[in-house]
Amino acid sequence: MNLVVVSNRVARGKANEPMTGGLAAALLPVVEKSGAVWVGSSGRVRDGAQMEPIAEIEQLGEGALALLDLPAAHYAGYYEGFANSALWPALHSRSDLIRVSQDDYDSYREVNAFVARALLRFQKPDTLFWIQDYHFLSLGAELRRLGVKSPLGFFLHTPWPARGVIDSVPNHRDLVTAMLAYDLIGFQTEDDRENFTACVRADLGLQVRDGIVKSLHGRTRLAVFPIGIDADRFAQQAAKAVAHPDVSRLRRSLHGEKLAIGVDRLDYSKGLVNRINAFDRMWTMHPALLRTASLLQIATPSREAIEAYGQLQSEVARLVSDVNGRHGEADWTPIRYLNKGYGQSVLAGLYRSAQVGVVTPLHDGMNLVAKEYVAAQSPVDPGVLVLSKFAGAANELDAALLVNPHDIDGMARTIALALAMPLNERRMRYEILMAKLRRHSIQQWFADFLEALQDGDSAEIEPLPAPSAGFLAGRLASSSARYH
Ligand code: F6P
Repeated sequence: MNLVVVSNRVARGKANEPMTGGLAAALLPVVEKSGAVWVGSSGRVRDGAQMEPIAEIEQLGEGALALLDLPAAHYAGYYEGFANSALWPALHSRSDLIRVSQDDYDSYREVNAFVARALLRFQKPDTLFWIQDYHFLSLGAELRRLGVKSPLGFFLHTPWPARGVIDSVPNHRDLVTAMLAYDLIGFQTEDDRENFTACVRADLGLQVRDGIVKSLHGRTRLAVFPIGIDADRFAQQAAKAVAHPDVSRLRRSLHGEKLAIGVDRLDYSKGLVNRINAFDRMWTMHPALLRTASLLQIATPSREAIEAYGQLQSEVARLVSDVNGRHGEADWTPIRYLNKGYGQSVLAGLYRSAQVGVVTPLHDGMNLVAKEYVAAQSPVDPGVLVLSKFAGAANELDAALLVNPHDIDGMARTIALALAMPLNERRMRYEILMAKLRRHSIQQWFADFLEALQDGDSAEIEPLPAPSAGFLAGRLASSSARYH
C-alpha cells in the first residue's frame, strides 16, 4: 500500500517546536512511522494564475513530507475566508460569526483543485489517499474529476453541527455533494455522524442505510473513529520534562500553591471567556482559594488576520487583567496569561505540574489537550481533568469531572472540587482514564481508518459504547470497546 496523507497544516518532526494544531501534532508520530507521503501547505504563497503545483520534498521518518506553495491569488479567500470565516464558525455552531462571499468560496474550490493536481504526482497503482479536515471538503471530488480511481478517505477533525446550522453556509449543498466523492468519511463522534446523515437526507434527499450513502459518485461509508494519542509515550515525555528549565522554574515559583492549567489556541470555540469568568467566580465564592490556587492559561494566537479572532484576543486580555486587578496582591497573581506556543515536550511537563487541567470548549471535535493532560500525570499523585461535555473527548473521558461551559457557577464549583479532591479518588479516576487512552490510541485510530478504507464495506467495526451515566458505569460498559 502506498499512502498519501493530505492536510493543510503539517508538522515538521521536532518535539520542541511549538505546534498550533491538534491535528498536525497528533498525526506526526504515526505518519512518520508509516512511510507515507504527507502533503500540506508550506505556509508560503506564489504568484501566477496558471501556476503548476510544485512540492518541496523533505524526508519525514520512513516517508516524506511534501510542502506546497499555494496560489497567492486564492490563499486568503481559501484560508482566512471560506475555511475559517464560513466553515469553521458553522462547524462549531457559531452561525452568528459566519462571513462569506462568493469570491471566497471560489478561492476555496480553486485551492482544492490545485492541491488535487499536485497529488497526481504521488499517485501509484496501489495508492490510498487520506484527506484531513474541513479545508479539503471538495478535494476528493476534484481528484475524481482528474480521473483518479484510488480509494479516497476523509476524516473530519471538527464537529459536524446539528441540522440547520450548516445551511447558513450558502454553498453547503455543493460541498456536501462533493464530499460524497470520498469512499469513507470518518467522524470524531456518533453525534457528528448522525448530524451529517441528517444533512445528507434533508438537503440532498438521499437515503443513508447502515451508514452507507449512494450518490452519483458511488457509495460512501460514514463511520466514527475517535482520534487518540500515544499515552505511554506522552507519559514518558512528561516524566522527563519536569527537569526542563521552563518547567522547573514554574514549579519553584509556586511555593506549594496549587495550579490549574488551560492550553488552547485563541479561538472562540475554546470557551476562554467563560473559563476565566468561572475562575473569577470561584475566587469570590471560595476566598480560601485566594493565594492557594492559581491558573496558568496558555492561549496561542491563531488566525490573527480574522476580525473575530482579533476581538477575542482583546476581550480575553481585558478580562484577565480585570480579574487579576480584582483578586491579585502585590506578591500574588491569580492568572498567569501567556500568548505564545510551546513545544510538546515542555507542555507535557507543564501539564504534570498542574493539579487541575481545565479543558472547557463550547464545541470541539475531540480536544487532544484533554487526553494529553491525563497522560502527563504522575500515577502516584495525579491531577484532575475538568472537561466540557461539549468536547468530543467527553464521550470516552467520562471519569473526568464533566462540566457545562455555559454554567459559570457550576464550573466554579467543579474547579474548586477538583482542587480539593482526595488522592484515592484522583487515582481511581486517573486509572480509568488512562486505560481508555491506551485502548483508543492514535496508532489504533490510524490502523482502523486505513483498514476500513482498504476493506470497503466488508470491514467489521464494532460501535463505541453509548456514553454512560457515570464513570464507573463507563468502565464496565467500555471494556470491550473498539472504534466505530
Ligand atoms: O480540526 C481542527 C484543526 O484543523 C486542528 O488541527 C487544530 O486544532 C486547528 O484546526 C489548526 O488550525 P490552524 O491550522 O488554522 O492553526
